[in-house]
Amino acid sequence: MGEASRPWRVVAVRRLSEAQLAALSAVAEVEYFEEISEHNRADFLAALSRAHGLIGGKLELDEAMLAEAPALRVVSTISVGYDHLPLATMNRRGILLCNTPNVLTETTADTAFALIMATQRRLVELANRVRDGEWKAHIGREHFGIDVHGKTLGIVGAGRIGAATARRGALGFGMPILYTAASPKPELEACLGAHRRELDALLAEADIVCLSVPYNADTHHLIDATALARMKSTAALVNVARGKVIDEPALVDALQRRVIRAAGLDVFAEEPLPASSPLAAMDNVVATPHIGSATHETREAMAQLAVDNLVGALSGSGPLTAVNEDAWRKPAATSGGNR
Ligand code: DGY
Repeated sequence: MGEASRPWRVVAVRRLSEAQLAALSAVAEVEYFEEISEHNRADFLAALSRAHGLIGGKLELDEAMLAEAPALRVVSTISVGYDHLPLATMNRRGILLCNTPNVLTETTADTAFALIMATQRRLVELANRVRDGEWKAHIGREHFGIDVHGKTLGIVGAGRIGAATARRGALGFGMPILYTAASPKPELEACLGAHRRELDALLAEADIVCLSVPYNADTHHLIDATALARMKSTAALVNVARGKVIDEPALVDALQRRVIRAAGLDVFAEEPLPASSPLAAMDNVVATPHIGSATHETREAMAQLAVDNLVGALSGSGPLTAVNEDAWRKPAATSGGNR
């Protein structure tokens, strides 16, 4: 296929299957970077400066890089979250942003539930005792956990992932469900008997508080010292959203002083979590390395959806899951693209 039938140039970052790369290559010249490091960063930036499309996970794309990418029309992120991307500038430039919702919902809810189970039943702490040869007698009360079934589960942000977590709790574990959301969720209320609450009330009533809100200016440090103080001293906090939804120093303090009992955290203000973080060493914390969607099946589905989005956008059939299709379809506010 010659240049005439492949007018686009695409930069792909992150491991994609041969079939996915072939699908991209059918519509574009593809410059492929399995990962970006200090060794190939200049090559990546040079490729970006020529590109019409960019696809990848955890793309580090800031304002300065966008300014050096005048032809860019489509960014297809292999993630549902896009708080790491400069959306306002992309809107202004008429650059389409696509993400990968839906395909990771159930897997991320599985992760939330794994953290709920692990924090309530102290799975990691107690398994480590076995691994370390410290299981020498029947365990006593000091190592007992707390039931999951029947406890009240508070979902902060009952979007797709929050709703899927609530379903596991209500139908699998007989948990009363409370939730926060911008508007009522009649289906959750009808199917799960869930009740909508203001955040403060949910924090006070729930035995397990699970965060599944998107990260933005409104949710920055949503869970701060004041919010933590509202929770039950027996409660656990689980976070599969974004690290900065929690004021981490306040959480460390609350866990140390037993303002709350435990935390299960898959996301952190700084990732990877620095080894020096107190959260990495506390017995009442289960910390996982941002594995929300990290199964073979789901990461493959996310990559495929991101490829389909980019191919759809460039070929004219349209993206499947766009974040800002309106901004893309209206004329760009500034020059700097070739649309
Ligand atoms: C997402 O898709 O936003 C996840 O957090 C990435 O793992």
